[in-house]
Amino acid sequence: MSAAVTRVDPTRHLLSIADLDRDAIEELLDLTDTFVEVGRRAIPKVPALRGRTVVSLFYEDSTRTRLSFETAAKRLSADTMSFAVSSSSVNKGESVRDTIETIEAMGIDAVVVRHKSSGVPAQIARWTNAVVVNAGDGWHQHPTQALLDAYTARSHLGSLDGRHIAIVGDVKHSRVARSDIEIFTALGAKVTLVAPPTLLPAHTSAWPVEVSHELDPLLGSIDVCYLLRMQRERMTEALVPSLREYTACWGLTSARADRLRDGALIMHPGPMNRGVEIASEVADRPNAVITEQVANGVAVRMAVLFLLLGPGRAQAAALTDVPAVEAAAVEGPAAIEVPETDTATPTTATPTTATEDHP
Ligand code: CP
Repeated sequence: MSAAVTRVDPTRHLLSIADLDRDAIEELLDLTDTFVEVGRRAIPKVPALRGRTVVSLFYEDSTRTRLSFETAAKRLSADTMSFAVSSSSVNKGESVRDTIETIEAMGIDAVVVRHKSSGVPAQIARWTNAVVVNAGDGWHQHPTQALLDAYTARSHLGSLDGRHIAIVGDVKHSRVARSDIEIFTALGAKVTLVAPPTLLPAHTSAWPVEVSHELDPLLGSIDVCYLLRMQRERMTEALVPSLREYTACWGLTSARADRLRDGALIMHPGPMNRGVEIASEVADRPNAVITEQVANGVAVRMAVLFLLLGPGRAQAAALTDVPAVEAAAVEGPAAIEVPETDTATPTTATPTTATEDHP
């Protein structure tokens, strides 16, 4: 007898940018402002998730995403558990399902999952009652990277409506590219993918993007030059003649960066290959907002955890097509109290309506 297929409720989890409509994305980005403010406080911590437990379940390497989620959970006063595959019973052959059921038995509220295979976070969402947040699955999705990218671009450019964003490099292997295409176009931007044919997937004609095999003609007109990491660990064949040739044709060299228009942003999800997709000097220019992306990642992930686990949980209904008014009726007033931890001065976050890596 085959096992029944259980549908995943996208309002309970964050698995893909495709689960969010424009309103839900904008409400989440607006809520992020509140947590950016919290991050600037002397004690950057609020009690919103006190008593909740958030687990990091990373089957693949990470620096930014893992530390960012753990920082976000701690700043919301959640308890955290961190699962290191290298020192776990995975090495004795324990399956993903047995691992998640074991962790769940200890009492958890959310699990943040990274895995090299697409679809694993969605599968885990069928096996657990905890909220699941996709921290990057295979070539598929990296939704919180996309949210922090959109937040960072929006904070510099204002609305992304009509803006032109070039996503440059190894699109084929990039979950960041897939998530960013969805979020940037949902917010009204025009996206051009720039890569040699070997680093593009076969089905780009089905995506809401333009494609160019040359970067140079775009440099003077784009608002964002978003560089992707050359993912050497995912390349099973020689997709470019050499890294030197890649840099010569598609790398953001100093000369190319000089041709960007005033105000254009340089973005990268990290980790960077300095000297390959981006010149080292370019990565440190004032219009390169790469460390700002990392900083914003903490606030974005606080907003995500808060909406999925905290007082805003019912507001996550607006992540899909449930009318905000219904969610508001469940949750009551839209104002969300975000008092400082152990201080007497409460702050009120007011999302406008109810809502909720691999580079
Ligand atoms: N951008 C990103 O996902 O980086 P990490 O692999 O370090 O988490």
